[in-house]
Parts: sequence; C-alpha cells; structure tokens
Amino acid sequence: MSETAARVRSDLDRLLPLIEPALLAPLAEGEAPRVGEAMRYSLKAGGKRVRPALCLLAAEALGGTAEEALPCAVALEYIHTYSLIHDDLPAMDDDDLRRGQPTCHIAHGEGQAILAGDGLLTDAFRVLAREGHLAPSRRLEAVAVLAEAAGWRGMVGGQSLDLEGEALTAQGGTYDLDHLRLIHRLKTGALLRASLELGAVAAGADPAQRVALRDAGAAMGLAFQIQDDLLDATSTDEQMGKRVGKDAGKGKITYPRLLGLDGARMALTEATERALCLLQPLPNPHALMAWARFLAERTA
Ligand code: IPE
Ligand code: IPE
Ligand code: MG
Ligand code: MG
Ligand code: MG
Repeated sequence: MSETAARVRSDLDRLLPLIEPALLAPLAEGEAPRVGEAMRYSLKAGGKRVRPALCLLAAEALGGTAEEALPCAVALEYIHTYSLIHDDLPAMDDDDLRRGQPTCHIAHGEGQAILAGDGLLTDAFRVLAREGHLAPSRRLEAVAVLAEAAGWRGMVGGQSLDLEGEALTAQGGTYDLDHLRLIHRLKTGALLRASLELGAVAAGADPAQRVALRDAGAAMGLAFQIQDDLLDATSTDEQMGKRVGKDAGKGKITYPRLLGLDGARMALTEATERALCLLQPLPNPHALMAWARFLAERTA
C-alpha cells in the first residue's frame, strides 16, 4: 500500500465509526416503511464516503473537531446518495448496478426510488437545521452552502447539462473544453466543493481559509469526475461496483472523449496539483493533501 493510501485508510478507520451510525440514526423511525427501506438500502449499500470524510477532515484541517461537522457530513452523503439514485433511473443513465448491488429502482421500483431520492434530499436539510451543536448562524450558513451546491446552480444544473450533452452529441453537435469543464464543475465539483466548505463553516473558518478550502474542493471535484470518466473507459464493473464502459456509447461529454486518455490524465494531474497548492498553507493540511492525491490515484 502506498503512503498516501495508508494515510487515507487510517483516516477512514478513525472516521467511519462516526459517520456510519450518524447516517442511519436519523432514518431509524418513520411511518412510511417502504420509502424508508429504499433510503436505507441505498445508503447501506456502501460507497466510499468521500464527501463526509472530506468534510470532517476540512474541519480538522482548521483545528475544529469532526464531531461538530458531523451533521454537515451526513447531509452531504444524503444529497450524494439521492443524486446517485436519480442518476441511475431509466430516464437518466438507466443503470442496474450501484455500490455492488442492484440499483434502488431495480430493488424497490421506480416510484419508491424517486421518493427515496426526494426523501434523502429533504432530510439532508432537516439534519442540518436540527441536529448537532453548531451555533444557529453556522447552521444557517451551512444550509445556504449546501442548497447552492445541490440545486440548479450546482449538481442539478450539471446533471441537466450532462443529459443535454447526450442529445447534442447524438445530433453530431460539437462542444469545447470550457463546456466540458462547466458540466463537471457543476455535476460533481459543486458537492465536493461544498464538502470542504461545510467543514470550514463548522470549524468557524476565517474568510481566507474558507475560500482556500472551497477552491481546493472545486479542484478536487473536477479531478474526481475526470478520474470517474477515466475509470468508465478503463475499469471493470466488478472493480467499480457499477456499470462502466457506457459513457462512450451514450454520447456522454467526457474528458477521455474530448482529450483522449493521456490528455484526460494530464488534466487530472493539473487539477490535483491546484488542490495541493491551495491546501498547503492551511494549519493542518496533511490529511486533506493525502486525500487529494488518493482521489487522483483511486481505482474504485
Ligand atoms: C459517483 O460518486 C458519482 C460521481 C460523482 C462520479 P462516488 O464514486 O463517490 O460514489 P460512491 O459514493 O463511492 O458510491
Ligand atoms: C454522476 O456522474 C454525477 C452525479 C451527480 C450523480 P456519472 O453519471 O458519471 O456517475 P456514475 O458513473 O453513474 O457513478
Ligand atoms: Mg450521470
Ligand atoms: Mg451515471
Ligand atoms: Mg461515471
């Protein structure tokens, strides 16, 4: 195991025992069991927990605690899991495998899967508003940051452009690197950016630290989606726990499609270097720097 991977493993060994129970506790009781079951199904299927881990590590990078950032971490994973449930629906990417299991709509039906996504989306904001010990002003700020990143100014907007891109390429239309970067910045970058920024908000960052974490998160988010595109072109279903090799056939606008594998790898390195430069001046940057390197090297 590389030094980077070992560092990431030891952070996960420490943080997952906090994250996992916090994800399930708010969903333990409810009067609508079928949708609750579908929500828990997708959450429990696994996932790397990249966004909650980055949020807690961002708080720690400023001298804050993981505990105070925990509701933000839970909210991020709820939004992310909802985005995956909807991304896999027949009307979107039409996938049947996610996190090594049948997708939510295959296991629970399309209607319950749509509602499970809606339920996770709205519960993210309930958790942020109600749980934990953050001062009211920080909670309000966290709600605003997450809403901006998740909604049409962020992930939802990016998913819309991603779908439009399929139609564009099907009609033989062309696009440039700026358009590709915009899709990735919105559909994936926005939530990674919010992951680091929410850690900053929870820890009471000063304005310069908050901007540094936000910009580093944006760069890591771009790198993350470039690596996702590369793995779609080069990995296997077994390795990824989801269907790969479909982007090209669907006419998705991706880095390998526009720049080739080598060009995409160069863009990945560039975005990772940018993140590392932004993280370095923080009070405790080493964990996040290891994660930035790890996300560029990941094979799953
Ligand atoms: C997959 O995200 C969707 C993208 C934004 C590329 P992850 O690779 O973080 O998925 P999980 O959470 O580990 O399943
Ligand atoms: C999805 O991008 C980004 C989301 C906002 C869910 P992809 O469609 O490439 O993600 P995967 O490959 O299905 O995980
Ligand atoms: Mg998609
Ligand atoms: Mg997809
Ligand atoms: Mg993908």
